[in-house]
Amino acid sequence: MQRILIPLALLTTLGLASSGFTGGKVERPWKPFLPDDAYLELTKRSIATIEELAKSDEKNAAGRAHAEVTILAAYTLAVAKAKDAEVALLRGAAFAGARQIGEKNIKALAKFSSSIQGSLLAPADVAMLKPRGASLDDLMEIFRTKAKGGEGIHLELQYHPKLKNTNGIESLVGALSAKKLSAENVDKVAKELPNLAYRIAVVGAITYEYAPAKDTPKWRDLSNQMRDASMALAEAGKKKNADGIHKAATSLENSCTECHRAFKKN
Ligand code: HEC
Repeated sequence: MQRILIPLALLTTLGLASSGFTGGKVERPWKPFLPDDAYLELTKRSIATIEELAKSDEKNAAGRAHAEVTILAAYTLAVAKAKDAEVALLRGAAFAGARQIGEKNIKALAKFSSSIQGSLLAPADVAMLKPRGASLDDLMEIFRTKAKGGEGIHLELQYHPKLKNTNGIESLVGALSAKKLSAENVDKVAKELPNLAYRIAVVGAITYEYAPAKDTPKWRDLSNQMRDASMALAEAGKKKNADGIHKAATSLENSCTECHRAFKKN
């Protein structure tokens, strides 16, 4: 009896108990991976983005807002303190926001930050993410160039004139993997690269949850690769390690293109 109970208790402590079993093996990637300081910065930015999108007339504002509340909820699931009340409240606010977007009431999110304190606590349950979250299409849209509806990249990451023109995450990942950064450019991107890379890692973890019924293991491997390579990119950025950035960006880019080759229809 005890042999069965001990591992289960351990899983509960790790917050993995609700993540489900596949053939007796836990496969979900939601061990805490987002550092606390990145969590603080990224959630602050995410809240500001949600409010901006609620006020914007952009054609795809609702899709982007849905992606943003999904990513915000995912931040709260990816942090070690996922079960803290403050974190659970923010998660509750993100899910409530997703519901309002579903009801075409995106304008209500203009005051998103003041809705947080009055929200309901949402459990640290990854299974809640996909049913409430944005479509995979809306999530992936953020990677496009700004001109094509993507979110674009921070000024400090536009280290090359071409990247100023394209201004997109996908182009940046392509550029970082195509050529090792000069020492000067490493300095330029070192502050913002980790913020973006942690964000992409979280999108990779969300993507894992969207696995299709066909070729599920392959999808999961590639979304894990996306998460892990992006974590390595964040860490190499922090350390100003040009080789590490190049290597991690190459692996990240491979995860994108391999998954698209296998699963994207057009
Ligand atoms: C595990 C699979 C997977 C990974 C990893 C993945 N994608 Fe995707 N991506 C897809 C699929 C599937 C679609 C098509 C979605 C659709 O049309 O419903 C897509 C679509 C896109 C699109 C087009 C958006 C649209 O409207 O269809 C962009 C841009 C994109 N992905 C960028 C990226 C980038 C950049 C990465 C890596 C950093 C990445 N993707 C990683 C599966 C993946």
